[in-house]
Amino acid sequence: MSETTTTTHRKAHAIVFPYPYQGHITPTINLAAKLASNGFTVTYVQLEFIGAGGAAALGIRCATISDGFPLEFDRDANLTEYWESMILDFPARVDELVGRIKKSDESATGFFLVADSLYTWTADIATKHNLVNVSLWTAPALVFSIGYHLDLLKQNGHFPFEGSSDDLHINYIPGVESITRKDLMSQIQKPHAIPILIKIMEMSFEQVKKADFILCNTVQELESHCLSSLDRRQPTYAVGPINFFAKTASLLPTTDCSVWLESKPPASVLYISFGSIFEFNKQEITEIAHALVSTGVDFLWVLKTEKKESNLAGVFPDGFLDRGLVVPWCDQRAVLSSPAVGGFLTHCGWNSTVESMWNGVPMLCYPFCVDQPTNRKLVVEDWRVGIDLCDGEQVITREEVSRKIDGLMKGNTCVELRQEVKKVSHTVRNALERDGSSQINFDRFLHDLKGRLK
Ligand code: UDX
Repeated sequence: MSETTTTTHRKAHAIVFPYPYQGHITPTINLAAKLASNGFTVTYVQLEFIGAGGAAALGIRCATISDGFPLEFDRDANLTEYWESMILDFPARVDELVGRIKKSDESATGFFLVADSLYTWTADIATKHNLVNVSLWTAPALVFSIGYHLDLLKQNGHFPFEGSSDDLHINYIPGVESITRKDLMSQIQKPHAIPILIKIMEMSFEQVKKADFILCNTVQELESHCLSSLDRRQPTYAVGPINFFAKTASLLPTTDCSVWLESKPPASVLYISFGSIFEFNKQEITEIAHALVSTGVDFLWVLKTEKKESNLAGVFPDGFLDRGLVVPWCDQRAVLSSPAVGGFLTHCGWNSTVESMWNGVPMLCYPFCVDQPTNRKLVVEDWRVGIDLCDGEQVITREEVSRKIDGLMKGNTCVELRQEVKKVSHTVRNALERDGSSQINFDRFLHDLKGRLK
């Protein structure tokens, strides 16, 4: 462990554990910065293979912890082995580190744990070290509610699913009016595809149910039923979006796209990204590339080509780059805030969704797995700020992609989507104003937390 220590003056001390993916790190590091600015000592714990991220730059005390694997180990390619070990072996490292952090700050007026809700050890560690336990959920409340009530799905014979159709309506989850099978998270729809994912979900929600407080990276006005229903079970605070509190560093080197974007007319550019973990396959890249050429739209595409360069030969049609820019990684929050961006082809990762809504950019939705199908339902059906890329089967053709890009970027659908997303952007931004719902909820959380820390 390496630690950067700052002098502490009898403050309560937050020990913050982000989940080791960009989509979780961004909100968690922002929350850490917000807690520090509210007078807490914060130790931000980062896995060694990721490095200190941007926390040190934000003036937050950092600690690093090993996950037990060599730095060069390919964690994505060995997902099951990695997470089996994170379930079995990692908690002992956390236990040891938390003990050391506590010893290093004997003047603290109290300690609290802020750990990603997906960790499988949070309540055990909090109980052992006498920490107030704050569970941080970095996705929408709808996804949380479904995971929280997995037992209800089991009781109703809907987990695991046997022979029921995609259109089956589930209307017994508290706070969730109705949801179809196809809109559930992928690990519930197909638990056998990557069994470790459902194991993590089951184990982590057992821990979540023992948390003192739940913080959710969502906005009260967008998910009020779900949140009220959860709050009746456990104190739950919608404090989102927490993505924009501080200028946080990206895990990967970014390409500056500002000059290119500035050369484009307002709302003319389609931004395309599939987030930090997943990537389009070759067939999808081919269909999207042909569709881009046939629509003639300006585009900025984040394509992590490093693993694919050789097998992408011949995929791109003639003239492909006449109107577009392809980069391996960019500062997405900056890109989405550019007036030139008029649409976002996204996998519906929650951070991408929130960042798009914040900037008033309508979405073309192509969910891949985990929470993304559920996020898609919110975007397309509940908030009407996006459209689906595929109407039926999740296999795309260039004709359908062209039609959908046209719908997103031009004509009546485009006008309607832009009107709706403007309203949602207003709601999301207002939530963080001094008298906005997320700020009020955050203040309420601090008040309740301080009550527990006494
Ligand atoms: C993961 C899961 O896949 C997602 O379903 C879940 O909701 C959160 O955790 P990820 O796939 O990386 O996240 O997607 P997303 O949540 O959208 O997060 C991606 C983050 O990377 C965003 O904050 C985005 O701003 C950032 N990003 C993406 C960049 O900074 N640059 C890029 O070029 C692309």
